[in-house]
Amino acid sequence: MTVTIAREGSIAVVTVDNPPVNALSQALRQGLLEAVTELDADATVKAVVLICAGRTFIAGADVNEFGKPPQPPHLPDVVAHIEAAKKPWVAAIHGSALGGGLEVALGCAYRVALASASLGLPEVKLGIIPGAGGTVRLPRLIGPAAAVDLVTSGSPVSAKKAEGLGLVDALVDGDLRAGAIGFANGIAEKPLPQPISRRAVPAVEAGFWENAEKAVAAKAKREVAPLRALASVRRASETDFSDAMAFERETFLALRGSVQAAALRHVFFAERAAPRPPELAGIAPRDIRSAAVIGGGTMGAGIAAALRDAGLPVVLIERDAAAVERGLANVRAIYDGSVKRGRMTQALADERMAGVTGGDDYALLADTDLVIEAVFEDLAVKRAVFEKLSSVCRPDAVLATNTSYLDPNAISDGVSHPERFLGLHFFSPAHIMKLLEIVPTGATSPEVLATGFALARLLAKIPVRAGICDGFIGNRILKVTRAQAERLLLSGATPSAVDAALRAFGLPMGPFEAQDLGGLDIAAFQRKAARERGDIPFAPVAERLCSIQRFGQKSGGGWYDYQPGDRVPKPSETVAAIIAEEAAGKRQRVWNEADIADAIVLPMVNEATRILEERVALRSADIDLVKIHGYGFPRWRGGPMHYAEARGLGDVVAVLDRLAADGLADPPCDGLRRAAEVGGFSALER
Ligand code: 3HC
Ligand code: NAI
Repeated sequence: MTVTIAREGSIAVVTVDNPPVNALSQALRQGLLEAVTELDADATVKAVVLICAGRTFIAGADVNEFGKPPQPPHLPDVVAHIEAAKKPWVAAIHGSALGGGLEVALGCAYRVALASASLGLPEVKLGIIPGAGGTVRLPRLIGPAAAVDLVTSGSPVSAKKAEGLGLVDALVDGDLRAGAIGFANGIAEKPLPQPISRRAVPAVEAGFWENAEKAVAAKAKREVAPLRALASVRRASETDFSDAMAFERETFLALRGSVQAAALRHVFFAERAAPRPPELAGIAPRDIRSAAVIGGGTMGAGIAAALRDAGLPVVLIERDAAAVERGLANVRAIYDGSVKRGRMTQALADERMAGVTGGDDYALLADTDLVIEAVFEDLAVKRAVFEKLSSVCRPDAVLATNTSYLDPNAISDGVSHPERFLGLHFFSPAHIMKLLEIVPTGATSPEVLATGFALARLLAKIPVRAGICDGFIGNRILKVTRAQAERLLLSGATPSAVDAALRAFGLPMGPFEAQDLGGLDIAAFQRKAARERGDIPFAPVAERLCSIQRFGQKSGGGWYDYQPGDRVPKPSETVAAIIAEEAAGKRQRVWNEADIADAIVLPMVNEATRILEERVALRSADIDLVKIHGYGFPRWRGGPMHYAEARGLGDVVAVLDRLAADGLADPPCDGLRRAAEVGGFSALER
């Protein structure tokens, strides 16, 4: 039974039990409707508490039903019934009251919550807007300004904040059920409060909606839902309840079937599936209660902060006392930045810092559960580190490398108990970026692999398993992005045109601006290593820029020129002249934005398909997560693989064939042709 009713004197307690998150399935909607009818008819009942079993209050509509036609009873009707009930309903909230869950709570006469609960309307994150009165009742309850914030950001607020907004009537300490019953007894004899639907929306000052529109549009960029959500709150503030409800529902149903909503739903489920790969089901991870990082540079400091933020004590090992001080200062700078941006109190920053012990003596690691190496990208240096770790660490300590391009098998050669070794590839800045590539070697045991995934959960990161190849999943695709960008330059496009086209596609930055920001020297170093291995990397213009010390912003110029103290890229005549020399004799064409985006994104898909075929990635959705969380690929496009599928793989193959015929890309790989025949990448996932 998803809905059960118990009696506590004159209070009825309606319990929703629909694991895992009490999503509003058809059965639950039906159950709530019947509960209203039953309790209205029961003269012994004076008030009703609506509470949920399990980890959370109702977390929203059932996202699994979004691909299908809506089934009655529809949620707006269920909420209207609760609101029209003859007895006051009290929503008792723990965990999260999200989306449709909050809308149900808004139908109730009162809302009480544990302080640990959170409330929100995250629909825009799924490419839709609330569909059961969220945008209509919320401004009537908490005013348009607060409603606009909640609805257009999709971010939940804490129960305490919700109480301040008037969204929650009382916070409950201790037992929620007992507290809510006490509250219900307190209001049972009072007249029913005016239903939210009948309240007026407080007036706004002149220019409010125009300003809100500008702010939301600037933030949403090409995401459709936030502006539509705003329009719905505005409509709710300017017309009557039933007109506003009809407008909201119409928008909700239209967006539910949109391309962006399908993409965002795909990412929602991919993110939830990522931490629990089926192949590791039932495998217990090792306990991680303490951690160490070797190397306190850019990555080591960020990884140390990420580990501390998850509550682990951290030891930071560097080469000598001076380097230890520099490493600790790097970690401190991260916390200072958080305090400065108001993300953390000074006291919390001090507490985090106090949990980092610096040193140059590996003996400090004798009892550490997990050690992550982030020293120079040099095989000999890394191997020397692991030789020491092999001799000082407990045999069951997990040892990890953060290498970007080196072969973890080679790094772990000679490590004692090699089953405890794996790659944990963080992204910079490591305390912020959500992606974690988890790279097992041939020897890594399933428990240690599971420990990598458990660590990702602890650090609130998105784990993706990657096989061993040059650059794993993300950087291997990045190489193709960059090579394609240069191919475009040699065939008539300019760096600014390429960057503008990829921004128009939805990336936060184009490939050339991004290289100028990160520094061209890093990739040059990698190409040198690749050449030493016998590879032939393609970067003719970047090589020339590096040869004249144009390394990007840090050297005053790279793909663009920069004025001192200014980060705005200016087209460079020097670069244009180099491009012209390299392009001499090659066919030039006129590029538009869409063709530029195709010439970069579709070859990325081609490489990603090879990655899937080679089992370097196990699932195409994993590749989407890598590009979204590590490289800024627009979430609303669903990642490159979802984008390609949604566009039609036949079209992708046709465009790649044309580019290949002009010498502007590799031809589609066999896997891509096969996937196109069956209409999806799942055929390659085996
Ligand atoms: N519908 C269907 N399944 C859902 C779901 C939903 N709304 N929310 C979560 N789930 C599933 C997940 O897929 C996962 O399934 P699995 O165990 O089979 O992998 C399981 O519930 C647990 O989810 P999490 O791993 O995310 O659990 P957490 O405890 O970490 O988080 C949560 C719980 C905060 C509730 C989080 O799941 C969440 O944010 N869910 C989404 C909430 C949401 O977006 N609601 C709005 C839906 S749209 C709507 O309501 C429209 C309305 O206006 C008409
Ligand atoms: P970095 O140069 O900023 O830091 C390296 C640190 O390691 C220095 O502080 C150095 O003193 C220390 N170190 C060197 N040898 C050591 C030893 N034997 N013992 C202890 N400490 C030692 O380098 P960065 O950028 O932090 O990179 C570290 C690793 O992370 C590399 O393998 C790199 O490929 C990888 N990586 C880098 C990313 C980036 O964006 N910078 C992203 C992901 C991985």
